[in-house]
Amino acid sequence: MRIIEEIDEMRECAAKTRSLGLKVVFVPTMGCLHDGHRELLRAAKKSGDLLVLSIFVNPAQFGPKEDFASYPRDMVRDLEIAGDEGADVVFTPKAADMYPEGYSTFVEVGALGDKLCGASRPGHFRGVATVVLKLFNIVTPDTAVFGKKDYQQLLIIRKMARDLDLGLDIIGVETVREPDGLARSSRNRYLSPEEREAARCVPEAIEAAKEAFSAGVNDASLLTGKMKKIIEKQPRAVVDYIKVCDTESLEDLGMIETNGLVALAVKIGPARLIDNCVLEKGAPRRTGAL
Ligand code: PAJ
Repeated sequence: MRIIEEIDEMRECAAKTRSLGLKVVFVPTMGCLHDGHRELLRAAKKSGDLLVLSIFVNPAQFGPKEDFASYPRDMVRDLEIAGDEGADVVFTPKAADMYPEGYSTFVEVGALGDKLCGASRPGHFRGVATVVLKLFNIVTPDTAVFGKKDYQQLLIIRKMARDLDLGLDIIGVETVREPDGLARSSRNRYLSPEEREAARCVPEAIEAAKEAFSAGVNDASLLTGKMKKIIEKQPRAVVDYIKVCDTESLEDLGMIETNGLVALAVKIGPARLIDNCVLEKGAPRRTGAL
């Protein structure tokens, strides 16, 4: 496994691979890898010849009061996991090279970036799209892999790839969960044992929406109402949003006619946890636009 820090070296490595007629497959991450990232690496391994994993905590996607400085970093363990999962290259660019003095060009993602998490994290998806486009330009992947846990992020990246004619395939991977249902996340580390226990309410709310929908409830306010009740039973949990929305435009839905995205963000102690599922008539396990 090769560790590359320099942008030019990464570019050369990818160019050489492609000149041999081999495919480059890419998994961008912010490190502190867990089983969710492992699943992305496994899917990627099957989808190309040179598997590139990037680890870069991207300052441009954190708000001024957010956790950039304290975001968990664990390079030693990350390299172990990358090796385990068969990564060929781990790309770890420096912030000063990605955003040199005077850097000023950003990707505007439009209305999708203002919905759901974008409403409480202004500029977040602009920062995500910018770094992902920069990484795509450096790594030049044929295929890139993202998780459906960050549904809105995946939707925005897919749209950016279409809108800007990036000409690469994007694969979405199902959310990987802990045994009690909590979606794996680097930020779960922030939770104290009591907060971790309280965090179960997030997947419970998702399950309650699935059950109600299977039982015939398709009114968005009834579904979100049930979810809210479950979250509000937890004194440690503060709802950021609970929404039922269109799987592609992320516009609020009043009623699920064919399918809808259920998404929520909940703050528990220092962690902001997100989760989602797509509800679909006749095929509850399918995943809508993704
Ligand atoms: P990060 O949070 O490290 O996530 C990297 C990738 O792993 C994303 O595609 C995310 O959706 C996926 N992922 C995280 N938890 C997952 C889980 N429990 N199940 C399945 N996939 C999961 O997302 C980012 O980093 C950044 O915004 C990034 C795209 C790297 C741009 O900086």
